[in-house]
Amino acid sequence: MPLSKRLIGSHQIGSLLSHSNPPSPKRFKAAGALTGRIRVPGDKSISHRSIMLGALAVGETRVIGLLEGEDVLATAAAMRAMGASVERDEDATWRINGVGVGCLLQPDAALEMGNSGTSTRLLMGLVASHPITAMFTGDASLSKRPMGRVIDPLSQMGASFEASPGGTLPLMLRGISPAVPITYRLPVASAQVKSALLLAGLNTAGITRVIEPVPTRDHSERMLRGFGARLDVGEEIGANGPERVIAIHGEADLKPQDIVVPGDPSSAAFFVVAALLVEGSDLVIENVGLNPTRAALFDVLRDMGGNIEELDRRDVGGEPVADLRVRHSALSGISVDPAVVPAMVDEFPVLFVAAALAQGTTTTTGLEELRVKESDRISAMAAALALAGAKVEEQEDGLTIHGTGGNMLPGTPQDAEVTTHLDHRIAMAMAVAGLVSRNGVALDDTTPIATSFPTFEGLLAKASRTS
Ligand code: S3P
Repeated sequence: MPLSKRLIGSHQIGSLLSHSNPPSPKRFKAAGALTGRIRVPGDKSISHRSIMLGALAVGETRVIGLLEGEDVLATAAAMRAMGASVERDEDATWRINGVGVGCLLQPDAALEMGNSGTSTRLLMGLVASHPITAMFTGDASLSKRPMGRVIDPLSQMGASFEASPGGTLPLMLRGISPAVPITYRLPVASAQVKSALLLAGLNTAGITRVIEPVPTRDHSERMLRGFGARLDVGEEIGANGPERVIAIHGEADLKPQDIVVPGDPSSAAFFVVAALLVEGSDLVIENVGLNPTRAALFDVLRDMGGNIEELDRRDVGGEPVADLRVRHSALSGISVDPAVVPAMVDEFPVLFVAAALAQGTTTTTGLEELRVKESDRISAMAAALALAGAKVEEQEDGLTIHGTGGNMLPGTPQDAEVTTHLDHRIAMAMAVAGLVSRNGVALDDTTPIATSFPTFEGLLAKASRTS
């Protein structure tokens, strides 16, 4: 009998096969300049980690500015199922009372991860070094994504797995305590894999080391230290140059924290590109996180000629933050350096839209990882932009886009819709394309937007109304 049928009930299998809400199609049209001031929700990566680490600290962690998107709520539900208390006050402060490292409880039912790869991979790390067994399930998009990248190193630490064919969800994880500390060199640049190992290392006696040939987002490192874990970051010379070595000392005692989550640069990205492209725009996006391991899109857009000004640069919760003032700009195509890919890995869908309106050709390479995100973002964006009338060529590791030189895109034909493949970033990127199109851009489904940016459509209406 297939694993999925043996381990979960048929009602749960149903939820894997389709998104839980009925599809909500919508056509996004030109609506005038974007002006005024907006504030995007809290950073998704930091929000997940706030709940997970809070759930492992003894005492009360308070979080202000938590992203209340479906992905983060999946993490909250999972941590509750493993014994932590995760509650929201009326003023939107979240209070997390943790169980202590090593004290997660056996969940009674499958952990439903919805669309969230970050919840899945990081929680697999946490469970791997606890003496508990957990079933992980997800929606149709998540159930296609590769989990072998975390299964391999966590198996070396002693955990065991029964996964669906191809190393996908649904999967059963049997954690182990004590687990074995390992040294692991990341074969793909992935903050999720790095973080899974660091979280597994928290409850593993000895030192767990992750070698990172290409630096990825460092929120786990910053936050683990903030919660009081001992973590050393050094450098070693590898075959292709310096590599980061991150060592976590196990059996840590985490101390509860007060956390203020900065605005998510990956969400701000859609408004930055929209304001650059729509004539007459002059928009301030407040409180945007500018951690250098996340913010490369803004540098690439400046290199293309984008007018993006940083106002009031400051520190929020240990992360650099600024308000971004963005004005309509004539953009030029460029060749994007593949070295910056990890620092803007989620921002390519919306960069492709900027490129489609630029003067000249933009080339991107080194984007293989985009094929295993919430959708295959290279082919999904190639198809979506072509449907909206852009000139796009697809390569194995990127797109080449010939821009309109600032002219509106034709938009999608009356009887056709962009397929969003349960991918929030395809939906939002193509919504931005709709703002600079003659006929608008029709999406087959806007419901995935709620995974990371539930207020997207409201903020878009607000920014367009103030003009
Ligand atoms: C994330 C890491 C990235 C990113 C994802 C969030 C994280 O994935 O795409 O949206 O919070 O660690 P990879 O590390 O797999 O590239």
